[in-house]
Amino acid sequence: MNLNLLRLRQKLKANPLLEGKSSSTLKPKVLTLTQSTYDGVLYNTETIKNMLDGYIPNLHFDEAWLPHAAFHPFYGTYHAMGKKRIRPKEAMVYSTQSVHKLLAGISQASHVLVQDSQTLHLDRHLFNEAYLMHTSTSPQYSIIASCDVAAAMMEPPGGTALVEESIAEALDFRRAMRKVDAEYGKDWWFKVWGPENLVDDGIGRADNWIIKAEKKGRKKKDEDPNWHGFGDLADGFNMLDPIKATIVTPGLNLDGKFDKAGIPASIVTKFLAEHGVIVEKTGLYSFFIMFTIGITKGRWNSLLTALQQFKDDYDRNQPMWRILPEFCQKYARYERMGLRDLCHHIHSLYSKFDIAKLTTEMYLSDLKPAMKPSDAYAQIAHRNTERVPIDELEGRITTSLVTPYPPGIPLLIPGEVFNKKIIDYLKFAREFNLQCPGFETDIHGLVEVKDEQGMTHYFADCVKN
Ligand SMILES: Cc1ncc(COP(=O)(O)O)c(C=O)c1O
Repeated sequence: MNLNLLRLRQKLKANPLLEGKSSSTLKPKVLTLTQSTYDGVLYNTETIKNMLDGYIPNLHFDEAWLPHAAFHPFYGTYHAMGKKRIRPKEAMVYSTQSVHKLLAGISQASHVLVQDSQTLHLDRHLFNEAYLMHTSTSPQYSIIASCDVAAAMMEPPGGTALVEESIAEALDFRRAMRKVDAEYGKDWWFKVWGPENLVDDGIGRADNWIIKAEKKGRKKKDEDPNWHGFGDLADGFNMLDPIKATIVTPGLNLDGKFDKAGIPASIVTKFLAEHGVIVEKTGLYSFFIMFTIGITKGRWNSLLTALQQFKDDYDRNQPMWRILPEFCQKYARYERMGLRDLCHHIHSLYSKFDIAKLTTEMYLSDLKPAMKPSDAYAQIAHRNTERVPIDELEGRITTSLVTPYPPGIPLLIPGEVFNKKIIDYLKFAREFNLQCPGFETDIHGLVEVKDEQGMTHYFADCVKN
């Protein structure tokens, strides 16, 4: 058995909910994988299928952010299913895709793709029963029609050309950002996360975006294989989707260390919003934009110009009332600050709490389930929940999903237990929100209650003790 399967088995064995179960019954039923992380990291699905076929009967690739990949050969085997690819012998393959996110679907348009294995076929009747459980009895026909329109748009050769165009625009943007960087010389500028070498023109080969393992004896002039900052990864297992552009702001290194000065991304994205550019996702020192079909040079050029304006305003420490007038109307405390002063204020808080380390440690901490998610969630219906203040949360079982933003990735699922690391993070969020109103860390799963003095108190819903 290979090492990864062994690790999976060890994890199953260590799960407290499975205590006392014999190892022969410890067989997972389904794998669900975020196929395209929020930042555009894809997995080679053929490697996963080969590894898990015969062990896990259902392989579900959550391709919410990847419905475009099937329409261009650029993405090779880095998406769930495609033409001329051998089906697994036993495992059924599912892909759920948000048509509304990257194709021409209207909000909520999404679909489930199912691929039979060589030996098993979908039971359509049972599948339909399960589907009906989660859908309305009054379908929105305009959503369904938009799925049809999106599918028709993607018919080759038009669909292939559209995907090619969006990759080409994304690369043009990356090249333009590097050109500006070169013009600023040693002065600071935003970086776009991605491989060092870009082709001079067009979209080039996908190989450039595939993450390679470190190799001994690699010549100095070769590209740095660790541009991604993930450390040594399996050769060819991951790829970065070039249409997902993570723009990195100064202040935090790839290894989580803070510089003396820094520009928190939340300030940049507020600035961009006031200049009419709405970004997809904001991290601590990075924000994310997507080159969906239809993004043209005109559009990304506005972003580039706004970023140059930001740099100019930052370097001159321009007053906030001039830079973000609407925001300052709401939060007068920032009016007289300069843009650089505000960046420094927030950067120092992040640095004081060592927030990158705190967040990483919290996500990597031992997250223990005390109940099945379905049982914990059912406590809501049974009115068996209690609203617990954050100082008393340690050891309590959540009935909700807990998702801090950034990074916007679920931390606890119902049934899991709040640990010390999480409480430390929640305390940081409370302090930060107090000191930086308008830039609040949003945590789904926390309940905010304002008292008569206007102070905010934070609680989480837990299973009643
Ligand atoms: C990874 C992932 N899966 C699923 C979803 C939900 O997709 P939908 O909007 O189609 O319900 C999202 C939404 O952001 C997502 O990020």
